[in-house]
Amino acid sequence: MMSLLCRRTIQTIFILVLLTELQVLCQDYETNYDDYDVEEESQPEVPFLVESYECARECICPYSYPFAMYCDHQKLKAIPDVPSHIHHLYLQYNEIEAITSKPFTNATSLRDINLSHNKLQSSRVEREAFTTLRHLIHLHLEHNNLEEVPPSLPKTLQRLHLGFNKISKIPADTIQKLTSITVLDLCNNRLTDAGIKGKALSGMKHLMQINMCNNRLKSMPSDLPESLLQLSVENNSISSIPEGYFKKTPKILSLRAARNKLKAVPYNAFNLSRLMDLNLGHNQLSKTFFIPKTLEHLYLNHNDYKELKVSLMCPSVDQDNPNKLTYLRIDNNKLRGPVDFHAYTCFPRMRMIFYGEQKKLEEYEPSAKE
Ligand SMILES: *[C@@H]1O[C@H](CO)[C@@H](O)[C@H](O)[C@H]1NC(C)=O
Ligand SMILES: *[C@@H]1O[C@H](CO)[C@@H](O)[C@H](O)[C@H]1NC(C)=O
Ligand SMILES: *[C@@H]1O[C@H](CO)[C@@H](O)[C@H](O)[C@H]1NC(C)=O
Ligand SMILES: *[C@@H]1O[C@H](CO)[C@@H](O)[C@H](O)[C@H]1NC(C)=O
Repeated sequence: MMSLLCRRTIQTIFILVLLTELQVLCQDYETNYDDYDVEEESQPEVPFLVESYECARECICPYSYPFAMYCDHQKLKAIPDVPSHIHHLYLQYNEIEAITSKPFTNATSLRDINLSHNKLQSSRVEREAFTTLRHLIHLHLEHNNLEEVPPSLPKTLQRLHLGFNKISKIPADTIQKLTSITVLDLCNNRLTDAGIKGKALSGMKHLMQINMCNNRLKSMPSDLPESLLQLSVENNSISSIPEGYFKKTPKILSLRAARNKLKAVPYNAFNLSRLMDLNLGHNQLSKTFFIPKTLEHLYLNHNDYKELKVSLMCPSVDQDNPNKLTYLRIDNNKLRGPVDFHAYTCFPRMRMIFYGEQKKLEEYEPSAKE
């Protein structure tokens, strides 16, 4: 009887652990293309094998989730020693400035570290800080004061979050070796064109998503790996997309380049076989470009279009393989007349053309009054 009860309890704990684990993994999916975002952590975590319930004094290690150590919101100034059985380490919202290798000496099982919202400084990240972490998959370093990507990150790393720091360049030698990375977030930093020169990014053969929004880029990043599915360069100062730019990244599904200084894009720039989402809002575009069959959502709001040349967007109608566009946003341009009726023949799946308000010519082109 006793042993049966005991087994029940262990089973319940096991299920609880699995559920919590799943929840943590799910929380991490911030974007839409989950299908492409394969989670590779396959080893089951079996709680009854845990022999040690060791926990740092400053932290909480819940009995029901024995692989996690919670040390967040504690005003900590340093990383506490991490016991060897810990897989998930939560250190967000503290006052940590340095990362050294010492607290990780025994922590060879670590999978995730969340160090977001701290005061990390690049000069205080030890060169060898991460070398014992041979299973690290997720590293959250967003909202810190880092000026560069930490050196010697483990090759196993799949998701690296570096948003809201002061990073101005990505040295090729630090990041090239990170061949397992699938998601790299660099939004809200100080990246410039010169800072991402060289073969920094193309070494990441599994990179699926790169976010470089709110930086200081003046041109599209060159040297992206062929595996890329999503690219965000929103809110930079990019003024052009070179002819044939996407030849190197033919699998791209989503491009976000809103809030830049694009005046024109090559007519064929988006002739891609998988593109589904294209956001070019808040630019200065006025010329029509080719719309690929796969495109579902197109944002052209806040640009300078005076007319939409549907026959150029859609030069031929193929009943068997129709255009998939369902949503077009075109408000805040300089359109005058109604949308060409041909749009509905070309884009039979169209659910909504958001025409909205248009810019008043006088306000934007004082010379037009003359
Ligand atoms: C590593 O483990 C050993 C043996 O359990 C222990 O004596 C030592 O204090 C640990 N070091 C750290 C940094 O956790
Ligand atoms: C890490 O902390 C941030 C808060 O800064 C939170 O939004 C995020 O969900 C955390 N991620 C994980 C995997 O714990
Ligand atoms: C654009 O990026 C700058 C920093 O480069 C930021 O201050 C600003 O808030 C961002 N604008 C939007 C609309 O996100
Ligand atoms: C798009 O590319 C294909 C080949 O990749 C080509 O056959 C086709 O003519 C191109 N379409 C346009 C409008 O240029």
